[in-house]
Amino acid sequence: MTDQELATPPDSSIDRVDVDLGERAYPIYAGPGMIDRAADFIKMAPDSRVLIVTNTVVAPFYAERLKTALSCVCRADIQVLPDGEAFKQMAALETIHTRLLATGLGRDGMVVALGGGVIGDIAGFAAATYQRGVGFCQVPTTLLAQVDSSVGGKTGVNHPLGKNMVGAFHQPRSVIADLETLDTLPEREYVAGLAEVLKYGLIGDRVFFDWLAASTDALISRDRQTLRKVVKCSCQTKADIVAADEYDTGQRALLNLGHTFGHAIEAQLGYGAWLHGEAVAAGICMAADVSMRLGFLDAHTCSLIERVIDTLGLPTAPPRHIGRRRARDVMARDKKTTGGQLQLIVLRSIGEAAVVPAEDSALEATLARYFD
Ligand code: NAD
Ligand code: GLY
Repeated sequence: MTDQELATPPDSSIDRVDVDLGERAYPIYAGPGMIDRAADFIKMAPDSRVLIVTNTVVAPFYAERLKTALSCVCRADIQVLPDGEAFKQMAALETIHTRLLATGLGRDGMVVALGGGVIGDIAGFAAATYQRGVGFCQVPTTLLAQVDSSVGGKTGVNHPLGKNMVGAFHQPRSVIADLETLDTLPEREYVAGLAEVLKYGLIGDRVFFDWLAASTDALISRDRQTLRKVVKCSCQTKADIVAADEYDTGQRALLNLGHTFGHAIEAQLGYGAWLHGEAVAAGICMAADVSMRLGFLDAHTCSLIERVIDTLGLPTAPPRHIGRRRARDVMARDKKTTGGQLQLIVLRSIGEAAVVPAEDSALEATLARYFD
């Protein structure tokens, strides 16, 4: 299939956003029924092999359908992993590598991630490392994965000493987001994904944030047209940031609004007690609080942010029992620390974020407000 053939979505129900990375550029397609048409959106050598990597929860819904769709252009197999963040570890990588070797997948082959961010991160890292790198395609099935983790090429697994500590940048060849897969997503997972959606409005697009704030009912009811705009706008913002800073040395850090606080919450509660998006939602409120203490945001704007987060059913604060000193320790190990100085993502206004060195008194005041 030529680039030109991939260039235009076949009908107007499908959106296309491009991640402009020169020779690693790729399209993101989003629309209904994409799984059954996946072969139209993946470039593959004829008769090459594909390994669909998925998990025990997603497989019964979508794995055979994806395999059938791809089988008209390639030889597709399915590798099913256990479900959950706890299995995002090196052992999963070995399982995939073994399967790739057993099926004889060569350098012209492709790994296809079918699932949420956990599967995308593991399968992407397996593709990055198998035979020093083979093709990779993302078929994200959670809201978080469709608006965030499937785009940008960050892949990896957790280490016992830290989350996402072992990985590689490995861009997919395409991202195929089937909006209909969101119908089967459990309520709590869906709502958690909305935190990352709000993040895009807050860091770079005031108009998008205001539209989200006015669309909470439609967001909660998963209105299809609303979700279409959500995925397209979110992917466009992420694609622009990734294109400007692929390797995360500058403005890509803005994507971590609320995440430094969120990681401290997740780490102390134990990963899985709160979903990532829930911790990020509370973390965004904490980031807004620091921004206010630094003189960027007024109290009214902080309340507006909290109100939207609350209306969507997300937490606006961490559980009270989290210890401040331990939270500080977790934050000190954050990847955004440079030269021993923690960097924080703050809001200068809704729609404009900045990376600033953590100023101790403002940070301490925020930690004292939210943690024990
Ligand atoms: P997840 O992958 O664990 O998926 C959440 C749950 O939903 C799982 O139980 C999954 O099996 C299930 N599921 C997935 N799709 C479904 C569907 N359509 N119907 C029913 N159930 C479905 O969690 P997530 O929130 O998608 O991703 C979180 C992970 O993403 C974390 O490991 C995080 O570190 C990573 N992440 C990576 C990036 C990146 O840039 N690479 C960005 C953000 C987050
Ligand atoms: N989710 C953070 C990033 O992609 O950089």
